[in-house]
Amino acid sequence: MTQDIQDFEPVFNDAVARITAHISGQQRAETPASGYAPLRDILKSLDAQRWIRDGGMDRAQFSGFLENYLKHSVQLHHPMHIAHQVAVPDYPAALAEMITGFMNNPMAVYEMGPSAAALEFVIVNWMVEKIGWQPRPLKVGTARHGGGVLTHGGSLANLTCLLAARANIAPEAWREGAPHDLVVLAPPLSHYSVERAVAILGLGADAVRPLQAVAHGVVDPAGVREAIEAVEAEGRRCMAVIANACTTATGLHDPLREIGAVCQETSTWFHVDGCHGASALLDTRTAGLVDGIELADSVVWDAHKMLQVPALCAAALFRDDTHSAAAFQQAASYLAYGEDVDSYDSLPRAVECTKSSLALKLFMNLAWRGEAALGDFIHARYTAAREFAAQIAARPGFEVPFEPESNILMFRFGDDDALMVGIRDAMMRRGEAHITSAEVGGKRWLRLTVMNALTEAAHIDALLDLIEHTAQRLAAGAA
Ligand SMILES: Cc1ncc(COP(=O)(O)O)c(C=O)c1O
Repeated sequence: MTQDIQDFEPVFNDAVARITAHISGQQRAETPASGYAPLRDILKSLDAQRWIRDGGMDRAQFSGFLENYLKHSVQLHHPMHIAHQVAVPDYPAALAEMITGFMNNPMAVYEMGPSAAALEFVIVNWMVEKIGWQPRPLKVGTARHGGGVLTHGGSLANLTCLLAARANIAPEAWREGAPHDLVVLAPPLSHYSVERAVAILGLGADAVRPLQAVAHGVVDPAGVREAIEAVEAEGRRCMAVIANACTTATGLHDPLREIGAVCQETSTWFHVDGCHGASALLDTRTAGLVDGIELADSVVWDAHKMLQVPALCAAALFRDDTHSAAAFQQAASYLAYGEDVDSYDSLPRAVECTKSSLALKLFMNLAWRGEAALGDFIHARYTAAREFAAQIAARPGFEVPFEPESNILMFRFGDDDALMVGIRDAMMRRGEAHITSAEVGGKRWLRLTVMNALTEAAHIDALLDLIEHTAQRLAAGAA
């Protein structure tokens, strides 16, 4: 069913106008901070089942549908949305999504998206250089260099990097299956994708062992060597040591330089989960938080967290590019034609076969705004989180467990875990504010991720008022 694209152009214009109006309303906080509604209500409002059955949507009907769809979406552009580690997308990157939607270039093989593949080559090299590694030359010679691949998300990037770590210590595992003596040492508050990756790799989830931590789950570097030696004393092998930059729940950073030094001395694969925090490399005022990241063998870095890129755009990066290629020891002969200076295939390095043109999104933000502007944004949001934490700590009844290092902060009101969950849910359902909660150290905390450039001290004051009122309402038995 092909249509002349010119017939569809007015519909695009309508959509752009409606999205623009919707985002402006959110930015001015004129609309609710959350699009949450029960599933039954949303199904009714979207009339989705009927549309699927009958089809035939026209321009006017689409406009109504889009209005409802936007209303029940997560309102990321609203300054009272201070919830998940999801980028408030910048317009150049959003435009890239539209171009990708039209062109649909599954670029893992060069001939299926030459422009997109060229941008991935450049973006991966940009990230590799930011970490402090050697970029991949156009013509690969004998000199060691870094490399990597863009993936559909950090979870897949963690899997990709840990697959490379397994290939490094047990190359036979690809054909023969995983040996039973491998152990992965990871921070106690690792993202769940780490345990999943280890289980998927056939090591069994129990192969993940927690590294010793100091306060708030931050890895104690003094315990790393001992942990590796304990694994060896059991007659087992340490496949990788993992560190977080930063940890999902707390936003705190593990001491990468000290952990990396132990890994180098013991010839142990060092993997840094920098999904959220690797972007700190863009600004000299924040880069110290990831000091030592260049000691890693592999790093994951999500652009769809702090680089204002819509999901998804993640990277699995390697100090030595040969590990990236060695992770997947399988030749899909009908697709991969070998390394060729005139092309660049990411297929031999990725789980995915069809891969979206991920690099265009990040490229667009860098090209329009510039690296320095992105660095300023990160520094500003990290600074704001520290100021907000001080503001919250100053309010009677509120507790802040530590000074934030990134733009993630945690706090509590009162001492009742169930109340934290109740307050959060009630504010979200009423469209007043959207925040998250996390369990750390056996307690449930309220958690903010300050992603939005518009969230200011006045919004935090309003949030704290709301929390107090909501707690009173809940105590009085109101929903
Ligand atoms: C530290 C860390 N690792 C991995 C992930 C998973 O990344 P993704 O959501 O892109 O799969 C997250 C997501 O929040 C994270 O914070």
